[in-house]
Amino acid sequence: MSLAGREDSLSTSGKNEHTSHLADSYGRVIRDLRISVTDRCNFRCVYCLPEQGFSQKTRSELLNFDEIERLAHIFVRLGINKIRITGGEPLLRRGLPGLLARLNAISGLQDLAMTTNGFLLAELLPDLLSAGLRRFNISLDSLDGERFQKMTGRDGLPRVHTIMTMLEEAGVSPVKFNCVLIRGMNDDEILSFAEFAQSTGHVVRFIEFMPLDAGQAWRRELVVPGREVYETIHSRDPLTLLPARSPSETARRYTFQGGKGEIGIISSVTEPFCGFCNRIRLTADGKLRTCLFSAVEYDLKGLLRENASDEDLLRFIADSVVHKERGHRINEPDFIRPDRTMSCIGG
Ligand code: 5AD
Ligand code: SF4
Repeated sequence: MSLAGREDSLSTSGKNEHTSHLADSYGRVIRDLRISVTDRCNFRCVYCLPEQGFSQKTRSELLNFDEIERLAHIFVRLGINKIRITGGEPLLRRGLPGLLARLNAISGLQDLAMTTNGFLLAELLPDLLSAGLRRFNISLDSLDGERFQKMTGRDGLPRVHTIMTMLEEAGVSPVKFNCVLIRGMNDDEILSFAEFAQSTGHVVRFIEFMPLDAGQAWRRELVVPGREVYETIHSRDPLTLLPARSPSETARRYTFQGGKGEIGIISSVTEPFCGFCNRIRLTADGKLRTCLFSAVEYDLKGLLRENASDEDLLRFIADSVVHKERGHRINEPDFIRPDRTMSCIGG
């Protein structure tokens, strides 16, 4: 990468302190950081983890909360304004509400969110709310209890219902529910999910199955194209496109007649939106990934533990981000799957 590109990636606002933005070599400005806090999970979603036979990091291999907080401060100095906490299942990380409160206190951070499977949410919700968390994305792949269990390995649907009520009572709604569609598994539930979105007022986001599953079961034929989701619903119940809130929005959002309810369609495979991607990821073991499908990682933990200064870290991050990939190459003949699954990378 050219030196010019590098300097551009770290354009300071003049004074020593604040760096205005983090940019890559394609001119994309990075604002959104996903932090995975654990690679463990209490679910075994078919599109993610196998039942056994995958390695997990030991405690000392994970970033500790001081390290995460320190990095988060640096990322915010670099222009990150949104942080999403992911896993594995983030709620398995002990003391998570404490970390969230610390992140929430970072000035300049505008948005703190979490993606969870929801299984442990009921017991942790009061602490999470006290920590200032208001934005939850919860996995929900089936509205049928048995099928839910088949897809996730756990009998979790009743808990989703409980948590929905709790969130509503706490005034935290709408909640976003993530539904990964897999051909022959849950693609007959598209209309039920649309009905669910309308009747509950919660947002359902249909996500195309991506080749990030540890079992390597992904095949193109298993992807249910976003276009099909749209047509299935629209032919029954006309949809109106909602304006994008930002160019980097991954979901195309729609509302139903009369403006009641919302769904999102995320066509990551069939209609990639990489050109507007503003996201980077920090893995639980402290590696920076500039794309879900990156073949390279940048070792922030190594630097942290070698006592690097904030300025060293800042420059290292900015230099790494310059190399952010143009996009995923799922649709290219020479596509190579990443070594890590979603449970390590963070959704
Ligand atoms: N394809 C698409 N989405 C996935 N997720 C996990 N694995 C995949 C995959 N292979 C999403 C799910 C989950 C979130 C953590 O990541 O929506 O809710
Ligand atoms: Fe766990 Fe999330 Fe992977 Fe499902 S998608 S197995 S909930 S990390």
